[in-house]
Amino acid sequence: MIQRSFHIMTFGCQMNANDSDWLKRALNARGFTEAATAEEASVFILNTCSVREKPEQKVYSLLGRIQNMTKGRDDVLVAVGGCVAQQVGRGFFNRFKQVRLVFGTDGLASAPQALDRLVEEEQLRMSLLDFSDEYPEKEQEWTGDTVPSAGFVNIMQGCDNYCAYCIVPYTRGRQKSRSSVSVLEECTRLVERGMRDITLLGQNVNSFGQDSHGDGTSFAGLLHQVADIPGLERLRFVTSHPKDIADEVIEAFGTRANICPRLHLPMQSGSDRILKMMGRKYDTARYRSIVDKLRAARPDLQLTTDIIVGFPGETEEDFLQTLHLAQEIGFAQSFSFNYSDRPGTRAEMLPDKVDKAVMQERLMRYQDWQAEYTEQILHGMVGSTQAILFEGMSKRSDSDAPGTTWQGRDVYGQLVHVSLPEDNDMAGKLLPVRITEAKKHSLIGEKAGEPW
Ligand code: 5AD
Ligand code: SF4
Repeated sequence: MIQRSFHIMTFGCQMNANDSDWLKRALNARGFTEAATAEEASVFILNTCSVREKPEQKVYSLLGRIQNMTKGRDDVLVAVGGCVAQQVGRGFFNRFKQVRLVFGTDGLASAPQALDRLVEEEQLRMSLLDFSDEYPEKEQEWTGDTVPSAGFVNIMQGCDNYCAYCIVPYTRGRQKSRSSVSVLEECTRLVERGMRDITLLGQNVNSFGQDSHGDGTSFAGLLHQVADIPGLERLRFVTSHPKDIADEVIEAFGTRANICPRLHLPMQSGSDRILKMMGRKYDTARYRSIVDKLRAARPDLQLTTDIIVGFPGETEEDFLQTLHLAQEIGFAQSFSFNYSDRPGTRAEMLPDKVDKAVMQERLMRYQDWQAEYTEQILHGMVGSTQAILFEGMSKRSDSDAPGTTWQGRDVYGQLVHVSLPEDNDMAGKLLPVRITEAKKHSLIGEKAGEPW
């Protein structure tokens, strides 16, 4: 018999992480429990990503590993969800006998129900791959009284942009906005239960409401409504497409105290020629002008970005333009990737593919600059006092400070570790903290006031 103990493995973007968190809660509500270790689980769930090459290969090797790990057992059920599931679909059934459920983006909402059936009916296989016309609303499934101090709320699904390199519109479907009423209801409920930091999530949040599912509320309108929720200390949103960011959203950084001064604004390239081939629908002049307006509205704003190195036809000169523009803007962090061909995309058909070694060397140059610059920013914060919202006990293993180490985030979302002498429960509390030390990716600080 298949036990109701599960193990979830998640790849890719924040959307997937958020989907997996929801799935865990929904399964708990149905009497499943999370296994302490993978070996003890009966139900394996892979939430996959196919945006870049490596995550896809990981899925195949992981399925192989699960097969080996569970050799001889007949009480194992594997479900594959997310973008790779949407692409490969029922193909998994033939390659891996243990896989009995595949579900795509819109199938997620019914995956818990499906798993419920599949543990009982052991001959059954199910696929939930259809795209629905509406945003598939999910039960919130928060059990118990407490919610984490920071969390994510989905506001839309899919993407209509068809950037030349990107598989997302094919795997996640066309853009479907959620109704502003249900977004607002969910945010309000979470804040009432103790959430103080919310990130609104979508593939292209700035075009929220601009699809057939919109209810007339623009993203700027939604942002103001959510920012108005009493008790919401911090509001963030991701991802913004530069072509769609409205002046009203930019201005909100200056007028709304709870909108955090950090924005992820994928630039992808600093070469107008490449941006055009990518189909991004902005040029570097427009990108610069958005950055200028943002910084005028909020001088302490930190910007982060996505960069693709080695798009077909990219020359050394194009790459240098990317590097120089990134340096000029001074991104606090970049997610930078080598270009990889995705099946069925326009870029796959383009000539002049960049040599892998050349691409890798460019990526290293970019990442070396970014690592150094990120460190500089973190060092620049030493001596300042920041409001830290605590998440829980520190996961840092090299903590040599006495007392209990807690971890939280500053207003920019940067991880801060603080040793506190007393055994207080700091989760969900805000505390002024003086930054005393900068590590490569995080900060260390000490208490500089009372929590609120
Ligand atoms: N190759 C490399 N990077 C890609 N991304 C999306 N598609 C590809 C691809 N084919 C990157 C983009 C996007 C991020 C989520 O992933 O930078 O913003
Ligand atoms: Fe992909 Fe472009 Fe949509 Fe982002 S905006 S998900 S890069 S198609």
